Amino acid sequence: MSIDLAKKLYAKMPEVFAKARKKFGRGLTLAEKILVAHADNFDTQTWERGKAMLSLRPDRVAMQDATAQMAMLQFMQAGKKKVAVPSTIHCDHLIRAEMGSEKDLLRAMDENKEVYNFLASAAKKYGIGFWKPGAGIIHQVVLENYAFPCGLIIGTDSHTPNGGGLGMLAIGVGGADAGEVMAGLPWEVLHPKLIGVRLTGKLSGWASPKDVILYLCGLLTVKGGTNKIVEYFGPGAETISATGKGTICNMGAELGATTSVFPFDQKMVAYMNITDRAELANLAQSHKDLLVADPEVYQSPEKYYDQIVEIDLSMLEPHVVGPHTPDLARPISKLAAEAKEKGYPVELKAALIGSCTNSSYEDISRSAHIAQQGLKAGLKAKTAFLVSPGSERIYHTMKRDGFLDTFEKLGGTVLSNSCGPCIGQWKRADGVKGRADSIVSSFNRNFPGRNDGINETLSFLASPEVVTAYALTGDLGFDPVNQTLKGADGKEFKLEPPKGEELPAKGFAKGEEGFVPPAENGEGLTVDIPPTSERLQLLQPFPRWDGKDFEKLPLLIKTKGKTTTDHISPAGPWLKFRGHLDKISDNMFLGANNAFSTEPGKGTDVLTGEAGLTIAQIARRYKAKGIGSFVVGDENYGEGSSREHAAMSPRFLNVRVVLTKSFARIHETNLKKQGILPLTFADPKDYDKIEQTDRFSVGGLAGLAPGKPVTVTVHRADGSTWTLQANHSMTEQQIGWFKAGSALNALN
Ligand code: F3S
Repeated sequence: MSIDLAKKLYAKMPEVFAKARKKFGRGLTLAEKILVAHADNFDTQTWERGKAMLSLRPDRVAMQDATAQMAMLQFMQAGKKKVAVPSTIHCDHLIRAEMGSEKDLLRAMDENKEVYNFLASAAKKYGIGFWKPGAGIIHQVVLENYAFPCGLIIGTDSHTPNGGGLGMLAIGVGGADAGEVMAGLPWEVLHPKLIGVRLTGKLSGWASPKDVILYLCGLLTVKGGTNKIVEYFGPGAETISATGKGTICNMGAELGATTSVFPFDQKMVAYMNITDRAELANLAQSHKDLLVADPEVYQSPEKYYDQIVEIDLSMLEPHVVGPHTPDLARPISKLAAEAKEKGYPVELKAALIGSCTNSSYEDISRSAHIAQQGLKAGLKAKTAFLVSPGSERIYHTMKRDGFLDTFEKLGGTVLSNSCGPCIGQWKRADGVKGRADSIVSSFNRNFPGRNDGINETLSFLASPEVVTAYALTGDLGFDPVNQTLKGADGKEFKLEPPKGEELPAKGFAKGEEGFVPPAENGEGLTVDIPPTSERLQLLQPFPRWDGKDFEKLPLLIKTKGKTTTDHISPAGPWLKFRGHLDKISDNMFLGANNAFSTEPGKGTDVLTGEAGLTIAQIARRYKAKGIGSFVVGDENYGEGSSREHAAMSPRFLNVRVVLTKSFARIHETNLKKQGILPLTFADPKDYDKIEQTDRFSVGGLAGLAPGKPVTVTVHRADGSTWTLQANHSMTEQQIGWFKAGSALNALN
């Protein structure tokens, strides 16, 4: 239980804080407090931001069903009897949205039976809590049940930082990290730098917590938070509900941030109380000085944070971001002109609210208030209008308080408590591949193809109340703050700004919770993997490094522009193969732009000259001949998610090196864990010189050392060669993973 974890943690904090203050010669920020309190060993570590690798002991692990499959398969390779830290599995990603909650759920139980049986049986055996399909979305369930101030949780999903809404460091990781922590190892992370965001004023009118983070996405961009923790503070922070804080922290992932966090306050107390955790709330209250930064930090923040951003909440306008990237932000009042200028289709085909980002009581009640005004004026939704509740608690409370009824009267469809359209698990009835339509959601991601699997769809993001207003008009050019709309009687009217309650006055209603506790003793139990399964495959260890330098590896792909983990390992229909490495690897790079092909995901077998093959086909051909391959990538390669398949499939298909202009943090670590050598160009201009038929030799591998550059020899087709310098960020331990063939191999 979180209360026991919190008691233990709070008891040891004063001593380790005193040590840290002495060592650093100053007061501590909140993020630093949480990091030092979870140090594997405070005294033996270096604490240099942006440089040191920290070795930490997380309090918990949470896994969603798509990533849990591989995390569990990896954990099982370690041969332990039971998980070493409290852990949970949440079945939320595999439910396809199409016919509404009940039918979708029944179909999912049937379609994913093998996977659910595997996860449920493994959870039972190894001491893991299991949340059944339909119980809720991982981050909402974690916020409602497991998050606590100053805790440290790792989760196999990029939006794990949602837990920052209750003042904890909640960090998205790959399945390998989760597997190792569950096996009892400490967790390693680059000591993040700190961005301090000082909030003043108070949100009003249409502005909501979502707008804080949408505004920040525009300001800092998708790379602005890389290897940084965003720490909020200031008088404005205390005016935002705990769930609103969760929304802001959740989408810190869109900044590329390691995580985001808010200091403990009374909004958190209220949330813990109403979610049946009064004892925890009281405990936190009695330790409240430990759970915020030291007072001197708030007095002179510029001395303590690497970067400071100031936001006056009173001045914040509602924002809309997109299409295709969350950092293309503007106030809603500017969107109509921009849509006209850029030719975005203004007819909206769908408006979607909810998800892990925005399905709090506050979000839903404010959205319902907008919907009610539409109904009063005789309107129905002019777009498809879909609602994804975050949990059973939210769903039943929405139902009890009449919000479901309001949305349905407007023409909305309530989906199951799961990810659905947020992760491409959406059968969009009117979607046509190749046609550019606009849709708007209150979700957090808007990469091409993310929602409906159609790359051309222009996906915009806004707060749920703004999305509901869009549903009433079906017009992307509509500005609910300043414009009127027409009622059924033809009369113009203006929507009142949304009103709602932060927390339900009658408390949360309860449904079937959907939680299955693990067995007291799982030793005699078996894990359910049918030998003929097409969905699950026990893992074979990757081969160890053979001690030889890499010689003349052919170029598999040179990715151009944005290369997210969705591009490297697309989700959607491929999600069903998450537990079957061989099968899922056929999706490798299907979404990535190849500098040497006009079609994404395609390339040329340079050994035969055959063009138009998928990258996976080419890699399989090389692998069959016993040849490894080389990948070149652009900037922030691997941004977007913790999906370890984006590292495992390349490794499985024999990619040995990925050389990029820069990496996204989680993906770089995942490559290291799988035994792939991640390098960055010392001179990014060398990227432009790489040609399709180049072959690559990497020498001096036996002498790999932290901070020591690597020389790559490029062999041209005409027989000439040139060399480039590359850097790596591997620690001694990570070099050991490379040599062992993977981090898990290094455990045995
Ligand atoms: Fe699920 Fe989307 Fe959240 S995929 S966990 S609802 S980001």
